[in-house]
Amino acid sequence: MDYKKQIAEILHTTLNSSLELDKIKQLIEVPKKDNLGDYAFPTFLLAKELHKAPNIIAQEVAAEINDKLFDKVQPVGPYVNFFMSKNTVSNDVINQVLIEDSNYGFYDEGQNKNVPIDMSSPNIAKPMSMGHLRSTVIGNAIANLLTKRGYHPIKDNHLGDWGTQFGKLIVAYKKWGNEEDVKKDPIKNLVSYYVKFHVEDVEHPELDDEARLWFKKLEDGDPEAQRLWKWFSEVSLKEFQRVYDLLDVQFDLYNGEAFYNDKMGAVIQELRDKNLLEESEGAQIIRLDEYNLSPAVILKSDGATLYITRDLTTAIYREHEFDFAKNLYVVGAEQTYYFKQVKAVLLKMGYTSAENMHHIPFGLITVNGKKLSTRSGRIILLEEVLNDSIDLAKKMIEEKNPDLPDKEEVAREVGVGAVVFNDLKNERILTEDFNLEDILKFEGETGPYVQYTHARAQSILRKAADVDLSDHEYNIDDEYAWGVVKQLEKFGAAIKDANDRFEPSVIAKYAVKLAQSFNKYYANSKILEKDDGLIARLGLVKSTQVVLKEALRLLGVKAPNQM
Ligand code: ARG
Repeated sequence: MDYKKQIAEILHTTLNSSLELDKIKQLIEVPKKDNLGDYAFPTFLLAKELHKAPNIIAQEVAAEINDKLFDKVQPVGPYVNFFMSKNTVSNDVINQVLIEDSNYGFYDEGQNKNVPIDMSSPNIAKPMSMGHLRSTVIGNAIANLLTKRGYHPIKDNHLGDWGTQFGKLIVAYKKWGNEEDVKKDPIKNLVSYYVKFHVEDVEHPELDDEARLWFKKLEDGDPEAQRLWKWFSEVSLKEFQRVYDLLDVQFDLYNGEAFYNDKMGAVIQELRDKNLLEESEGAQIIRLDEYNLSPAVILKSDGATLYITRDLTTAIYREHEFDFAKNLYVVGAEQTYYFKQVKAVLLKMGYTSAENMHHIPFGLITVNGKKLSTRSGRIILLEEVLNDSIDLAKKMIEEKNPDLPDKEEVAREVGVGAVVFNDLKNERILTEDFNLEDILKFEGETGPYVQYTHARAQSILRKAADVDLSDHEYNIDDEYAWGVVKQLEKFGAAIKDANDRFEPSVIAKYAVKLAQSFNKYYANSKILEKDDGLIARLGLVKSTQVVLKEALRLLGVKAPNQM
């Protein structure tokens, strides 16, 4: 159903020129305005060869083409404008969606090549923040998009479970903590010890030395340090898991920073062998002047490793383990400079695969105008936001549709879906504030709006469950239906664009547009009227339902059948 190609072929036989088929295809544009048709071909390039003015060429070409693929072919200045046959395109598109079902829009660009995605990656003993929600949700959507383009995504939760902060936490726990409290409410209590550490260490800087010592012990495998660290990790992960369950996001790997502890030595050796390390105030650094970046510190003066030491090891491990096509990092925009350094070091080491490493940054998100920070103690737990959203969805269902079956489940799908959709609907780099009341509205560009439209389509289909939709000519010739068909036809292109730019918002915006065009159609036609057009109309409804559901699935949002 490559209409550009079909048009190029028609033009190729019509034009009396040396212009090649591929070149013609490249020249074909999609006009910005609907009244200029669905595709347009500019004739400027032909003027010289044909010794004619472009607008004359456009007139002659338009007059000559006569194909059932078009309702109309019209010259407008130097352009030949093509108005696709509504009947033909409707029939093609609907047939294809009905046959391919949820596979519609799939294209095997990736040929099953591996693409690790570093995503979510919260820090042990700290609450998961909205930033981690963004990374989880954006990463999950990108993974779904990659699968839809034939790649094999590997979702890797690069937990922040290593580093000097664990020295601090161990010291704090040993001084002020107790086991019972940690068992009762792990993260909250661990955070309180950590906060206390930072208060106390202003007056008692020797605490920092103690913490450094404990981290060193941890790195060297001291049993007590190991036992405490393991315990902190386990209880934290259990809490994170509740959020992942709410979001229904799964990971292929949980290779956190600690996983690389025993692998860093080889990388440090490699850096030494390649003569890249330099001593500076006792620390080992690597200069990145030629990249216009400040030096990266690889080892502290006490020999302790850093965040970047682990990231270098991670990238090299991924290359060896996965031979990746791309290596993706869904991490907040505040780490942009840092990832430039990581990439530069890898390139300096000779890892050309670092060219395929992409940091996928995103902006801050605030809730009701409040920024989220763990150290200041102003913590808004992500789980709370999700649960508040579910509660509000429950209340709305109770008011609007108290007899709905599976109320609890639907409230979960709508409540969580609203948060996820909101997170994905704008370009990821933008900073945004959200307010629960707004994101749960059934009108406007919201998750519930798209879900509601999907449920509306399902409800129409339930009323016509006895009609057989298969093997039919889905000829549709009305303006509103055409609006829907045109949207349906663009799904594959939207998936490609979203995947190429690591930008799930393309799909969210697509879903809103499809829902809008469908609702216009719904308001202006008698879909269930028992006449000759019934099957074609139902075919369109079914196609819309399939594509809305698939678009939501790509975003990680559920599509309830009833709302
Ligand atoms: N744990 C880090 C944080 O919360 C994010 C880790 C991102 N991934 C990475 N490979 N550095 O800021």
